[in-house]
Amino acid sequence: MRDMSGKRLQIVLIGCGNIAERRYLPGFATIADRAKLAGIYDADTARMQATAARHDARTYPSLAALLADTRIDAVINLTPPAMHHEVNLAALRAGKHLLTEKTIAGTVEQATTLIEEARARGLVFLSAPAIGLGAQMTDLRRWVERGTIGQVVSVRAQLSTMGPAAWTEYTSDPTWFYQRGVGPLPDLGIYMLHTMTDLFGPARRMTAFSGISIPERVALYGPVAGKEITVTADDNTQMLLDFADPAGEGRALWGNLDSSFCVWQAPGPQLELYGDRGVLAVDNIYDPKGTIRLWRGSREGEPRWETLPPLTAWDADTRGLYIFEGARHLLACVRDGASPLLTPEQARHVLEIILAAPRSSREGRAIELETTFAYPKPWGTRMELE
Ligand SMILES: NC(=O)c1ccc[n+]([C@@H]2O[C@H](COP(=O)([O-])OP(=O)(O)OC[C@H]3O[C@@H](n4cnc5c(N)ncnc54)[C@H](O)[C@@H]3O)[C@@H](O)[C@H]2O)c1
Repeated sequence: MRDMSGKRLQIVLIGCGNIAERRYLPGFATIADRAKLAGIYDADTARMQATAARHDARTYPSLAALLADTRIDAVINLTPPAMHHEVNLAALRAGKHLLTEKTIAGTVEQATTLIEEARARGLVFLSAPAIGLGAQMTDLRRWVERGTIGQVVSVRAQLSTMGPAAWTEYTSDPTWFYQRGVGPLPDLGIYMLHTMTDLFGPARRMTAFSGISIPERVALYGPVAGKEITVTADDNTQMLLDFADPAGEGRALWGNLDSSFCVWQAPGPQLELYGDRGVLAVDNIYDPKGTIRLWRGSREGEPRWETLPPLTAWDADTRGLYIFEGARHLLACVRDGASPLLTPEQARHVLEIILAAPRSSREGRAIELETTFAYPKPWGTRMELE
C-alpha cells in the first residue's frame, strides 16, 4: 500500500445521482484539507457533465478509463445496487481503495469474492451504511454499554415509508427501488440491521413474513412524476432475529424489524431497546438533532421518560450527514491507518439476512445464518465530550 501520510487522498465518485448530489458532493468541503474530489463518472453522460459543471470535477469517458488513472487512490461507488458487484470488483482489481454504498453486492458469494480480492491486494474495503458512526448511534451504544437499561432482552425496529416514489426529495427515477433485488429491506431495513448487529453482534437465525402488498405504484414527484411502477421486489417485510449467544449464558435476545414501502406515517419511535431495568427509544434515526429517550421505573415514584443528554460531540455540519461519515472513515482508514469499522464482513452478514427474508417467508421456516463478522468492533472514543 502507498504511504498516504500527509497527502490529500484522491477520491472519485462513480454514480452522480441523488445521494451523490445531496450528501457526498457537499461532504467534500468538510474534508478538503485531507482529500480531494479527483473526478466523477456516470454511465449517463449528460448527468455526469451537468454534475461536473456544478462541482468543477474532472470526468472520464468510461469506467475503465477512470480506473486506469494511477492518480486515483480511492473510489466511492454510488451506483444503484444492481451495479454494485461489477463496479466494486473492477475498482478493487484496479487497486483502488473502496467504499461502496449499500448493498455490498447482489449475493453472499459475490460479497466473499470482493472481500477476498481486497484482502489479497491489501486494500481498504468499506461498505455503507455508516449509521453506526453517527452521533445518535454512538450515544445509543454507550448508554447500552453503561448498563443504563440493564440486560437487553429485545429490540424493536421500524423503518417503513412508501419509498422514494412518494418522496419529495427524490430527484431520480425511483423505479429501481421497487424492482427485484432491492425493495425496503436493502434500502431502509438495512440501517436497522446494521444498528442491531453493531449492538448485539452477528445473528444466529432469522425468520420473516415477506411479500408484495401494493403491486402498482405511481411516482409522485421528480423527473418521472406520474410514471407507473410495477413492483417486483417484496415491499412489505416483518422479520424476527435471534441474537442469543450459544457460547454465552444463552439468554434470549430477540430483534424484531418492520421494513416496508407500504407505510405513509409511523408515529412511534423507530427504534426501541427493552432491558430488564428500562427502555431506550430513538424517535428518528435520521434526525440530525435526534435525541434518545430513557424510561426508568422507580420504586418510589412514578415511572418516567427523560431525554438523555448527548454524549458524543459532533461537528454541526456532519452530525446530520451521517451518510458522509462513510467517506470520512474511508479517509481515516486509508490515510491515517484507522481500524475499519464499516467492515465488508458485517455488510455480507446483513446481506445474508436480507436475502434470507423472502426464502424464509415462502418456505415457512426459520433460517440458520452462516456468515459472521468480528464483534465487538473497535469503536474507539472519538470526539467524546466526557
Ligand atoms: N438516495 C438516497 O437517499 C440514498 C441514501 C443512502 C444510500 N443510497 C444508495 O446510494 C446508491 C445510489 O442511489 P441514488 O438514489 O443516488 O441513485 P440514482 O439513481 O439517483 O443515481 C445512480 C447513478 O448511477 C448511475 N449509474 C448506473 N449504472 C452505472 C454504472 N455502471 N457506472 C456508472 N454510473 C452508473 C446512474 O446513471 C445514476 O446517475 C444506491 O446504492 C442507494 O442504495 C441512496
